Amino acid sequence: MNHILKCHDIVKTNFVRAENCFLYDELGRRYTDFESGIWCTALGHSHPRISQVVATQAAKLMHLGTRYPNTIVEEAALAVLEIVHFEAGKCVFLSSGSEAVEFGAQTIRRVTGKNILLTFSNSYLAAYGSAGRKNIEDWFLVDWNICPEADTCLENIPFDQVGGFVLEPGGSGSGFVRFPPLQLVQELVQKTRQAGGLVMSNEVTAGMGRTGKWFGFQHYEIQPDLVALGKGLGNGYPVSAVAMSRDVAEKLEASGLRYAQSHQNDPLGCSLAKEVIAVMRDENLIEKGAALGAYFLAGLQRCAEKYAIVREARGRGMLLGLEFHPHETFSAETAYQTLLEQGFLVGYYPAGNILRFDPALTIEQESVEQLLDCLDNVLQNVQIPTLA
Ligand SMILES: Cc1ncc(COP(=O)(O)O)c(C=O)c1O
Repeated sequence: MNHILKCHDIVKTNFVRAENCFLYDELGRRYTDFESGIWCTALGHSHPRISQVVATQAAKLMHLGTRYPNTIVEEAALAVLEIVHFEAGKCVFLSSGSEAVEFGAQTIRRVTGKNILLTFSNSYLAAYGSAGRKNIEDWFLVDWNICPEADTCLENIPFDQVGGFVLEPGGSGSGFVRFPPLQLVQELVQKTRQAGGLVMSNEVTAGMGRTGKWFGFQHYEIQPDLVALGKGLGNGYPVSAVAMSRDVAEKLEASGLRYAQSHQNDPLGCSLAKEVIAVMRDENLIEKGAALGAYFLAGLQRCAEKYAIVREARGRGMLLGLEFHPHETFSAETAYQTLLEQGFLVGYYPAGNILRFDPALTIEQESVEQLLDCLDNVLQNVQIPTLA
């Protein structure tokens, strides 16, 4: 793998095959995937219904010009609009989460005529574009860590200049698994709307059951005007979507929008999105993920009670984290390395000294128990110096 551009640390294990939450390397060694790729394979790897749809649709029709959306695209749009509760709305399919969030942000600017968008400073929105840069000419950033009380936060926000509020309800992209406070989110939504602005929920990570509900915004009892989807929507295949209310769609179309990308509304991605939603419903995966996530979190919380090195266990649904206190020889990174050697793939964020767990909603309880046992062994060996 000497010809793969190094954009970050690369682990040189050669994975060749996968089944649900298990990955196999070329020697046949099995690893349990607690990361779901980059939090994408919500139904697990190689789900038979997903593999079948890929094979069937690829043989029939993978790609069409953007002028020719067919019935598969329409059916996928209806399925997405139903789960986000925009039954009369409209939907566009793109390829990545970054594209979906950027498209949504540009939509808000176009529809409201206001350039500045509001978001939390620690929300990850995209890898590039205006949403990736979050520059001060285009974004007003609210840091809820230093002003968790709604009243003090709201005073300085120029709501009359704000086109919309972009909520990332997964607390995830920045890696810290911290969720924005309910009251603050509700007040930002209310004040943005009172001033004529729109609300978009960035569900690229939080959506498709990751946080124990279909969507992260449902934890806040709000209904956004736009929803950006990615990751779990394609279960590992690059398809994303922006769904919007009828009102927003009508205004956007009336504005004379012209937008085309090579893979916009591709039948292959749309057939997958439609099937992913159907599998989630048929297998009750939102409920199953929420229940197993609660079990998993309880296990992590037991670790936090038992071992002084653990600062906190936290999470929602299947988006969980275990944060450590600073230590001379132990960190999230060393824990990650040990777990990898033991055959467990987890996420870790050095900046937060946190391990992150985002398994597929289809993971077996037994795998969760094995990971918890392994963690217990790892933490047992961490010596905490006692103060004299
Ligand atoms: C919350 C959030 N938004 C947007 C993105 C961007 O999605 P993508 O990497 O598919 O472009 C990510 C990716 O991790 C994310 O976590």
